[in-house]
Amino acid sequence: MNRCPIGNRRRACGCGFAKLRAMQFSLSRALPLELRTPCLVLPLWSDEPLSGVAASFDSQIGGLLLEIVEQDGFKAALGETRVVHTKDANAARLVLLGLGKRAEFSLDRMRKALVKGARTARGLKKSEFAFALPTADDQVLPLIVRGAAEAIELGLMQFNDFKGGEHFQIESVTLLLPEDADENEAQAALDRARIISAANARGRQMVNTPPNLKSPSTLAQNALDIAQSGGLRVEVWDENRIQEERMGALWAVGMGSDEPPRFIVMEYTPEGTENDAPVALVGKGISFDTGGYSIKTSGGMEEMKDDMAGAAVVIAAMGALKDLGIQRRVLGIVASAENMISGNAQRPGDIVTARDGTTIEVLNTDAEGRLVLADALAWAGEQNPSLIVDFATLTGAIGIALGQEGAGLFCNDDTLASGLERAGTETGEKIWRFPMWEEYDDYMKGNVSDLKNTGPERRAGSTSAAVFLRHFVPRGIAWAHLDIAAVAHVRDARLLTEYGATGFGVRLILDFLAV
Ligand code: BES
Ligand code: MN
Ligand code: ZN
Repeated sequence: MNRCPIGNRRRACGCGFAKLRAMQFSLSRALPLELRTPCLVLPLWSDEPLSGVAASFDSQIGGLLLEIVEQDGFKAALGETRVVHTKDANAARLVLLGLGKRAEFSLDRMRKALVKGARTARGLKKSEFAFALPTADDQVLPLIVRGAAEAIELGLMQFNDFKGGEHFQIESVTLLLPEDADENEAQAALDRARIISAANARGRQMVNTPPNLKSPSTLAQNALDIAQSGGLRVEVWDENRIQEERMGALWAVGMGSDEPPRFIVMEYTPEGTENDAPVALVGKGISFDTGGYSIKTSGGMEEMKDDMAGAAVVIAAMGALKDLGIQRRVLGIVASAENMISGNAQRPGDIVTARDGTTIEVLNTDAEGRLVLADALAWAGEQNPSLIVDFATLTGAIGIALGQEGAGLFCNDDTLASGLERAGTETGEKIWRFPMWEEYDDYMKGNVSDLKNTGPERRAGSTSAAVFLRHFVPRGIAWAHLDIAAVAHVRDARLLTEYGATGFGVRLILDFLAV
């Protein structure tokens, strides 16, 4: 399980996958006042800061909280924190954590605040802390437990594999249940959260791995490793099989690299679903995108190591299906290549033939994601799926539209779109739907071929990529495309991530599939 997922690369593997250490979580019915702990994170509402547990606490420590609120300007605004050194309390340190107004409370806001509370607790260098869960009615308690556990674990996760020295880490966290909480339900929610966080962490790990240590083959190896523990069947096609299978677009992108392309299929078929139409998840797996001969400028090119984030979502999510007890047949499909420059690389002007027979003029070798996805979507369509969802770091333009707050959704089916939107709201992995009017199809019509891979318009870049993909999805199949180019990694704290890969999409799709 903790084996390094790299390993079959020309250069020696320096990654520290084995160091990935999970945090301990436990639930407790202890009253916050009575728990002996080096640090208690105590949430406060801005409109009633000293209600409930906080009020009892205040009287236990001689009115200190009231003083902090009334004289020291602590407003309990969302995510605001204040460290208190107690004298006569069981908790040696308190971290006051603002949750904002009670009426504006949402899971998303709690998760965001809690990330800050957890980081403040970490700053105190105690190896453990407790968090008093905000009170809520029975229905939302499981969501709160899950949201809190995910926010703490993911918010504290750091990618230190290549950094020397010791790295301080929180080792264990206690979640204090409100009075009358149903402990079994809370425990089930915590178990779910741990599985989902572990899947997200695996996704992040794959994306954070530097490009000299990853390749289409190592992604395939990741899929094989994850399949063992996840009860999955995996098939990996090499470069010869890819060509035999007429995947001319995937091959064209991959042929310029010394690291050959791979087509990966993972299959999850729980008992009793053998004859069901599968859900197909499809991921873009470009292990590095130089742009090819339409080469990218050097500034920020290192970010193109994350161009396999869609593949990471698919592989990581597939690995969690069994543990989550999901009762649906699911295929995980990854088209992987390294977009490089060499004597074998494709040229602008090349015309390639995709698996479904469509000819494509490659006007820009940097629009390679849509090429590899063309073959993957065509193959997915042949499996008679009930629906297809693809994840791809497809266009820079999606970040112009949405910034880093959410991903672009393009979908030909309202039911599928609203299912994904619901999961987006619940997980805080926000998505926003864009139109795919038929007028856009004209942008991608070829002059000397069926399609060209870039249009004449500079505008509507994400949409023209999406309608290009639509061409390869057989009519009548519900399909959604998620453009995660802007949210796959962050350089400032966002999306429950401090720095680096976010794993965006893993929590969303697992939530979607669980219903
Ligand atoms: N992998 C990139 C998209 C990308 C850009 C991901 C920024 C993450 C951050 C993709 O292959 C690409 O290069 N797209 C081009 C398309 C263009 C050539 C039509 C783009 O967005 O500029
Ligand atoms: Mn590109
Ligand atoms: Zn790309």
